[in-house]
Amino acid sequence: MAMSNPAILFIHGFPFDHAMWRHQAAALPEWDCLAPDLQGAGSAPAPSAPDAYSMAAYAHGLIKLLDERRIETAVVCGLSMGGYVTFELLRQQPKRVRALVLCNTKSAADAPEGKRGRDALAEKAQASGARAVADELVPKVLSAATLERQQSLVREVRAMIERQSVAGIVGALRALRERPDSTPLLGRIRVPVLVIAGSDDQITPAAGMREMAQAIPGARFTLIQDAAHLTALEQPDAVNHALKRFLTQL
Ligand code: MLT
Repeated sequence: MAMSNPAILFIHGFPFDHAMWRHQAAALPEWDCLAPDLQGAGSAPAPSAPDAYSMAAYAHGLIKLLDERRIETAVVCGLSMGGYVTFELLRQQPKRVRALVLCNTKSAADAPEGKRGRDALAEKAQASGARAVADELVPKVLSAATLERQQSLVREVRAMIERQSVAGIVGALRALRERPDSTPLLGRIRVPVLVIAGSDDQITPAAGMREMAQAIPGARFTLIQDAAHLTALEQPDAVNHALKRFLTQL
């Protein structure tokens, strides 16, 4: 009987969709790469009630996908909000997680000021649409080097944010705002872990990610130069190299 390829589940960040993983999916032909759109993102249905969105609901949707595809265990690779969803998957179904790649993410919940920021961005999205969200976020998620030297990527990231629905953006902001603190989970992780940080990331700074890696038994840490929050798109070759090295050692 033919063996199926091992699976890797890529989970995108906010306010993005599956397209942020295009370089990694292309670089790993020997893996069954799943890069779904989370509820409310990309082409996935976007319920209008914000309380339909939570890290638990996103994780539930992903477990359903694994079940439908009859995938027992997968390497889970999450970027930023995708990392928060990864922690939730670990809480809900640890046995489904073969290994973890945590990119540009953190374990802590939002502080009160962060929660106020979520509310302000949700109001902006409702009042002025996804374009206003892109205006605010594009300069924050990309490094100065990317903004200066990779104009087509800047346009790609802007277009990705602008195609998201307002309902999906507002729902995701609610899920982000209400997410639990995953820090207590770190010391209990027992699968191989690779942590990938961007040298210029202001949203999830590399120093905090290094500390997070130190709190996870046996975790490896890789710093990607000239990248901010979207390492997978800003420096795909470096990320793919780190990813392949990690995957071949599993
Ligand atoms: C993301 O990229 O998913 C967001 O930056 C997450 C966050 O704002 O906490």
